[in-house]
Amino acid sequence: MDNRVIIFDSTLRDGEQTPGAKLNAREKLEIARQLARLGVDVIEAGFPISSPGDFRAVQQIAKTVEGPVIAALARTVKDDIDCAWEAVKDAAKPRLHIFLASSDLHMDKKLRKDPEICLQEAVEAVRYAKSLTADVEYSLEDATRSREDYILRVVAAVVDAGATVVNIPDTVGFATPEEYGGLIKTIRKKVPNIHKAMLSVHCHNDLGLAVYNSLAAIQNGARQVECNINGIGERAGNAALEEIVLAMIVRPDHFPFTTGINLKEIYRTSRMVSKLTGIPIPVNKAIIGINAFAHSSGIHQDGVLKDKRTYEIINADLIGGQAAQMNLTARSGRHAVRHQLETMNYQLGAKEFETFYQNFLQLADKKKEVYPEELEALLIDISFAEPTYELTYLQIVSGTGTVPAAVVRLRKEGELLEEVSRGTGPIDAAYKAVDKITKIDTRLENYNLRAVTHGMDALGEVSIKITHEDKIIIGRGVSTDIVEASVKAYLDSINKLINMQASLNNNNAFRNRFHVKT
Ligand code: KIV
Ligand code: ZN
Repeated sequence: MDNRVIIFDSTLRDGEQTPGAKLNAREKLEIARQLARLGVDVIEAGFPISSPGDFRAVQQIAKTVEGPVIAALARTVKDDIDCAWEAVKDAAKPRLHIFLASSDLHMDKKLRKDPEICLQEAVEAVRYAKSLTADVEYSLEDATRSREDYILRVVAAVVDAGATVVNIPDTVGFATPEEYGGLIKTIRKKVPNIHKAMLSVHCHNDLGLAVYNSLAAIQNGARQVECNINGIGERAGNAALEEIVLAMIVRPDHFPFTTGINLKEIYRTSRMVSKLTGIPIPVNKAIIGINAFAHSSGIHQDGVLKDKRTYEIINADLIGGQAAQMNLTARSGRHAVRHQLETMNYQLGAKEFETFYQNFLQLADKKKEVYPEELEALLIDISFAEPTYELTYLQIVSGTGTVPAAVVRLRKEGELLEEVSRGTGPIDAAYKAVDKITKIDTRLENYNLRAVTHGMDALGEVSIKITHEDKIIIGRGVSTDIVEASVKAYLDSINKLINMQASLNNNNAFRNRFHVKT
């Protein structure tokens, strides 16, 4: 059996289902381009029927991103499949990915449908998808809690109907590695036509076993693995792409498999996904957390200085963590800054670059050197969506024995709007002043501040989570002034909320076109 494993990246679909991780079309396109540079085999670009914004994003990715197969998700409903096909059809290598639940629990309680009806629907949907394109994937949602005899029947039937890939998801992260590997082995043994399709796996991380389960499935014959950058995804997330790939690199004795992943792009991809989704990477995250290559105890430091292998099983350089970097200063010209961005694989249009460069100069004026991590952090300010509100002026009064107060001036469509407010602290005062201007009722759920690099003059990065009605939005902002970074993060989330509402208003035409029921 061929040992090449297909990497199916679902960061832009299952990953984007992480609460608060909503990406706009431009951000999705940016990540898709980076995924292509990373060398993934398949990009699941989205679930087009879910919103007009997602439809457009998938369409743009399909039209412009070269290299990987571009997949779009659909339920076993004709309108879903038509919509997914419309979005993905211009890709050089399009794929339709159809799914329907196979567990009694889901069929009975969620779908309220008889298993035989579901089986028939699955077959009809695959046949219909197959009439549109050759590459059709079918997923048995909640497979790991489904009856084995039913799984075997569904797999055989959808392969007969033309599915070229059959995916066995552990939708709720319930399986154990032995069980999951065993299920893959049984399917390979008992489904007579399975040689006509590739077996795929898709693991969620509810018990922290997603990567281990994925590897167990590969050891038992699965040759496509669905995974996400940084392990983001619904609830506890999906299997982390970087962990699966590095397990194969570091332990080929256990996992003698190859992938097409360009390892040097891992670090950069991980940072980009974190920046654009607003989901921070835990410091101790395997492979890409900032502590993954840090040694703090004296004994460890001593060992590493004598021979890195004493406490390091992965060299940071292998995943692009220490790519050749030059630190920039206030004297660095546009050429040097653009060059450094390009080395880091970021390409900005002329207008975006000019805004970026002015922000860079402001930062470089305050600091001796600007590090690559800080350049990445500044990219947050180059919002990919047109911001409704922009901060033009902020003044804070704060200190022991004073009542914190803020003056905030925002620009909205060319008009300057100013408000003053008091608060329990400078950030509270500034946020209240912003609220007086925007008149949007939000709740601050979470606030995080971190220094992007080391040193007293480091750039501060604030990431916050706000809620508005049933929506969760993540906002980020950077500045050497942490109150300013906090206000920028707040405005970022408010601008995203406004964009989200605008795209919801566009929903109606889209819903009519694809007969979406509300
Ligand atoms: O977890 C799951 O079952 C899924 C399917 C749609 C593949 O995400
Ligand atoms: Zn999933």
